[in-house]
Amino acid sequence: MNQMEQDVKKILFSKEEIQARIEELGKQISEDYKDAKSLLVIGILKGSCVFFADLIRQISLPIEIEFMSVSSYQDSSISSGEVKITKDVNTSVTLKHVLFVEDIIDTGFTMSKVMEMFCERGAASVKLCSLLSKPDRRKVEIPIDYLGFTIPDEFVIGYGLDFAEKYRNLPYVGVLDEKVYL
Ligand code: IMP
Ligand code: MG
Repeated sequence: MNQMEQDVKKILFSKEEIQARIEELGKQISEDYKDAKSLLVIGILKGSCVFFADLIRQISLPIEIEFMSVSSYQDSSISSGEVKITKDVNTSVTLKHVLFVEDIIDTGFTMSKVMEMFCERGAASVKLCSLLSKPDRRKVEIPIDYLGFTIPDEFVIGYGLDFAEKYRNLPYVGVLDEKVYL
């Protein structure tokens, strides 16, 4: 067991389970957008980076990709409720079909703000794909068009998700042991 694995209380989704689900999501997305003239897939840094890299390789359409940085959680496991764009996309989104890729929807504040902004920028459509969702924590209603897994209200790490910037490189999604932050 390595240093990171000692801080994992329980593995929720193995890398095989995650890959199988991503294959299904990729197929669904490819089918849904097959008649669209263009698709711009935007990854929300840094949490979605691992999911994003695997997901786009399961989409069988000629997509464009971009990345955005949005600050929500600082070094804590409690949401600030504030959303700030720290790195924007480098392209116009007017009349483009936009699909956001996020690691987890918790309160829903981050993505509802970002998606609202992209509607105002004149995107042809704005949809959301998230690896995980914690519905028990939701503060604003937000439709998740493509969802990997629903999880209970526990702090999770791995497969891109961090606690204080660590554990992103774990190959699976696991629950963080409380001993790390209590
Ligand atoms: P929301 O605006 O509350 O939906 O926050 C979403 C963001 O909070 C995600 O992009 C994550 O960066 C972070 N987050 C929420 N829950 C967790 C968790 O259990 N582990 C790691 N990051 C989380
Ligand atoms: Mg994030």
